[in-house]
Amino acid sequence: MAQLSVKKVKKISTKKMDKKNVKAPAGTKKAAKNAKVQVEEELLLQTPRGMRDILPGDQPYWDQIRRVLTRISLEYGFGRIDTPVVEYANLFTRSVGTGTDIVDKEMYIFNTKGGDKVTLRPEFTAGIGRAYIQHGMNVLPKPVKLFSMGQIFRYDRPQEGRYREFWQGNFEAFGEQDPILDAQLIQLAHRVVTSLGIKNIQFQVNSIGCPKCRKEYQNLLVAYFESKKQKLCQNCKKRLETNPMRVLDCKEDKCVQVSTTAPQSVDHLCIECRVHFKSLLEYLDELDLPYMINPKLVRGLSYYTKTVFEIWSNDEEGKKHSFGGGGRYDYLIESLGGEHTPAIGFGLGMDRLVAEMKRVHAKSYIEPRPRVFLAQLGDLAKKKSLNVFAELQKNGILTAESFGRGSLKSQLRVADRLGVEITLIIGQKEALDKTVIVKDMVSGTQETVGYDRLIIAVKKILKNNVVVSHSEE
Ligand code: HAM
Repeated sequence: MAQLSVKKVKKISTKKMDKKNVKAPAGTKKAAKNAKVQVEEELLLQTPRGMRDILPGDQPYWDQIRRVLTRISLEYGFGRIDTPVVEYANLFTRSVGTGTDIVDKEMYIFNTKGGDKVTLRPEFTAGIGRAYIQHGMNVLPKPVKLFSMGQIFRYDRPQEGRYREFWQGNFEAFGEQDPILDAQLIQLAHRVVTSLGIKNIQFQVNSIGCPKCRKEYQNLLVAYFESKKQKLCQNCKKRLETNPMRVLDCKEDKCVQVSTTAPQSVDHLCIECRVHFKSLLEYLDELDLPYMINPKLVRGLSYYTKTVFEIWSNDEEGKKHSFGGGGRYDYLIESLGGEHTPAIGFGLGMDRLVAEMKRVHAKSYIEPRPRVFLAQLGDLAKKKSLNVFAELQKNGILTAESFGRGSLKSQLRVADRLGVEITLIIGQKEALDKTVIVKDMVSGTQETVGYDRLIIAVKKILKNNVVVSHSEE
């Protein structure tokens, strides 16, 4: 790795030097060489804008989130599904919809060599819906509950908590229209976030109605905003034509002002949507979940119907971004060519959860630490040590080693740095005798044991020491 960087840096510096050179006469070898170097693009040794490496130091937080998501998804009866990171681009045009930021501006679209127009997935729901239809999941007992976890790509303006590549834990439930499912998914989201040690949260909920009642409401909304059009920002003037409900969640001060007295969807729901929303609120009260009704919550994707919700920190300091959001999308499957399938789901932003875990000093999962170090000296010992190492791991004894180092002293230095409780040493003699020196680093005592007694001897010492435990809730 280091070698590669040096080579690349050299190339860049060559280029810089050549630039400074006096122009070589045309047709000479030097001129040809310069021309070649000039077409070479500068190599930036950094991730593309809006994308990040997740380094080992942060991995315990990510592991913790993955573990909690996996465990709770199973507890709530979700089956894992992995879909491709690349999908046909028109899947999202049809589902997320034109007039949304995601479709209009944020997709990483490209043509394959075969001429297919594809995109890096800008969200999970449409791809999962596609898979639901493609694999005939409509014949399965309802609701069909699917869980995914992975990267999402949106060509957005990067800033803190907003990346171009980010991770979501995503839950979808197909085939059930009862509001109890809406409440159960909100309960699930609450379980996940609080299990990560993020306790002070609040759900914002709203109902944006169904195609029947929304049409009437949108007409009212457009008429209202048209009458105040000169007070809206440039973007919202356009939104008025493409996606008028999005004006409600514009963050520009002047638009916020105008929206304050705008008609609210909850006041214009049809009976079915009103009953649905009322039942959901009753369930949330019954579950004692922290929520508020936000009449301006509309969400940025156009497939939603009835219930929409988001999860926010309830601390003033943490209120910059939502941790997750979702809602009902009772017509999505139909619009993609499947049969009518009511559905609901939500996505959690894993990057934002990691940031919040750090901010509130939530305990991250403590990675199991090796408690044993295996050192070896000499060629024969080196050969024997691989099998001994495998035997220890097989017996659940996490063991560190530094096989590449020749000197015993430098290996023991590593053992010391790791703070292990036992060091095992195989020298030339031990390798011949098929024995191992077991050194208790706490008491300082040591004994030589045969392979058949090694595991027992190690476990006996470890048993006397405190075992690191990790709890989630
Ligand atoms: P979304 O609100 O676009 O919904 O994204 C869900 C969550 O992903 C957000 O609440 C946020 O935590 C995280 N997120 C979104 N954009 C970014 C970003 N640029 N950087 C970091 N994190 C981000 C959806 O994607 C829907 N598909 C959710 C859903 C599932 N609805 C129904 N089923």
